[in-house]
Amino acid sequence: MRASKNKQPDNLQPATCNLTLGLLGSGQLGQMMAMAAKKMGHRVLVYDVLPGGPAASVGDEMIVASFEDEKALRDFASRVDLITLEFENIPAASLELLSTLRPLYPSPQVVRICQDRIFEKEFLQKSGFPVAPFRVITSVEELVAAVSELKSDAILKTATLGYDGKGQVSIAANASAAELQQAWADLRAKRAVLEKRINFCAEGSVIVARSTSGEISSFPPQENSHVKGILDVSRAPARFSKKVLEQAISLAQKIAEALDVVGLITIEFFVLSNDEIIVNELAPRPHNSGHHTIESSKTSQFEQSVRALTGVPFGSTELVKPAIMLNLLGDLWQAGEPDWKPFLGHPEISLHLYGKKEAKPGRKMGHITFTGEHREELLQQAKEYLARMNLLSEPLP
Ligand SMILES: Nc1ncnc2c1ncn2[C@@H]1O[C@H](COP(=O)(O)OP(=O)(O)O)[C@@H](O)[C@H]1O
Ligand SMILES: [Mg+2]
Repeated sequence: MRASKNKQPDNLQPATCNLTLGLLGSGQLGQMMAMAAKKMGHRVLVYDVLPGGPAASVGDEMIVASFEDEKALRDFASRVDLITLEFENIPAASLELLSTLRPLYPSPQVVRICQDRIFEKEFLQKSGFPVAPFRVITSVEELVAAVSELKSDAILKTATLGYDGKGQVSIAANASAAELQQAWADLRAKRAVLEKRINFCAEGSVIVARSTSGEISSFPPQENSHVKGILDVSRAPARFSKKVLEQAISLAQKIAEALDVVGLITIEFFVLSNDEIIVNELAPRPHNSGHHTIESSKTSQFEQSVRALTGVPFGSTELVKPAIMLNLLGDLWQAGEPDWKPFLGHPEISLHLYGKKEAKPGRKMGHITFTGEHREELLQQAKEYLARMNLLSEPLP
């Protein structure tokens, strides 16, 4: 059933199809969310500041306007049944406004916490979840004091707008006053957290879906490796102990409940040598580390997200095929579009390209998923092929 335009936000009836989803943001996460929504018979109205993003071509329609344009936001809300987002950095006041007009998941309160590292860390710590020791920093004096208190190598992270390792500066335990002054200047932020550098054995993530009625469904955790702060490879199943896997799922479910989130929430975590885990950060939406679920799981993270938002029963999160996902960054486009032929036509390789017009170093342009028993070898071959191609594309001496 379709929600009428005059219904109060809370009164949306569960609907298996024919809703119009409003999507804030038009990146690749939005693209894959929109594909899942359309597969289920919904329409998608995309909203972003620039036209031509990956989700723009999948959505039925698009509004191009600032996230602070009240008239455009009201117009957007009037044309959809419910609203969701694919990235957190949307002004809080805009989300507050939208939430008075239509159901908005995740709620502005959840986004407020997850879009700000200080609020996120404080929420996690106050709720009793394990986080790395940290200090809130708003001046170089506070940074100097915090470094001497933490007595450890650390990372200074901006409170807002950081992603893919951007907005972070490494701080040595014995950094001089001049180095700290420089680090604070380099960060160019008014608010930040200084976080102890954790000597982890591995990194992982868990994606949990929670419905409007509080029902929870968890995907099995995946194991993630990063290069220069950007996700490189995700493996499912993760090669963690049973204790780590159970602890990660249990923590993720408790965090979803404590936040009262509706939709997806992803918990990134560090695994320590004693099999304890530390929560790194939260994302109230589908996550790059869950892209493999498109091929590996009965229900993808994107479809589960749509199910959570529209109030229909969850799909099975069973991992039906082990998988490895490799991110394809813009660095690979140095000499133009790479030749993808070796990745096409192989039964255990799925190539996803987001259709971004401009490739830049570090920009996520696509990903490849390898499934089946030879997936580690396939990953290795793919990495060698891509590295070779990159070497060849370097200017000759
Ligand atoms: N406290 C830490 N100790 C060790 N490594 C860290 C720490 N914080 C971040 N990192 C590394 O940097 C990566 C990116 O940091 P993260 O806080 O997740 O920010 P982003 O929002 O950019 O993903 C992490 O996945 C991890 O590899
Ligand atoms: Mg991260």
